Amino acid sequence: MRIGIIGGSGVDSMGGVDFERQQIPTRYGPSTVFVGLGQNADLVFLPRHGPEHTVPPHRVNYRAHLKALQSLGVERVMATFAVGSLVDDIPPLALVALDQFLDFTHSREGTFFDGGASGLVHTDVTEPYCRGLRQQLLALAPMHGLELRPSGVYVCTNGPRFETASEVRMYAQLGGEVVGMTGVPEATLARELGLHYAAVAFSVNWAAGLKGPLEIKEAGVDKIRARLLPLFVETLRSADVDGCQCLGARHVIHEPRED
Ligand code: HPA
Repeated sequence: MRIGIIGGSGVDSMGGVDFERQQIPTRYGPSTVFVGLGQNADLVFLPRHGPEHTVPPHRVNYRAHLKALQSLGVERVMATFAVGSLVDDIPPLALVALDQFLDFTHSREGTFFDGGASGLVHTDVTEPYCRGLRQQLLALAPMHGLELRPSGVYVCTNGPRFETASEVRMYAQLGGEVVGMTGVPEATLARELGLHYAAVAFSVNWAAGLKGPLEIKEAGVDKIRARLLPLFVETLRSADVDGCQCLGARHVIHEPRED
């Protein structure tokens, strides 16, 4: 089974996996990925912001990324993103297995179903992250020395700026628990393609205005990232995804006439 991980900047190697960089053409543009064999996995790592981390959140080509993964035969994807924390029990360096999001992005290419030949489809995202992947992630995390908060509401802003203190208060009042800039439309595009997709947020700061000046934590982040990747691989390989809602979520009004 070929599995996918979407994360921060380029990864050249990962405990026993050597990656080959490939540029995958899609109808939405190219996506750069790292393909590797190892740890009993056939793994595709996709650096969301490009291999040199040069693409800001609002310019990430989410459609090309997800389509590239699909065209490589990936069916299951785990993603990770850095976030700011909106609530007291998610301090910097805490990890959250997301279960919901609130979308405040704008002007992003957020669907494969844009009308005309690409069809008109409404996609069910009641439960936006794969239940099977989430359950397995939570079950395996302690064996990888990681503690995961079992649920969390991710607020996606457009970025690239951080929030005002008032926006942070508003997001918290609306039920947001962490805030980031890249979780949407990544999750919804994955659902449109019928991929099993789940995501872990890791907090790198208290959101603006909550606890004094905005301070992004760097120490300790790499260590957590290094533990997350093997957890993701094992989760993707072993999860039972029967009974999740990732497939059959499309309500088709007009069938697409292109792939
Ligand atoms: N806000 C938005 N995105 C972020 C933050 C934040 O505080 N921290 C890391 N990504």
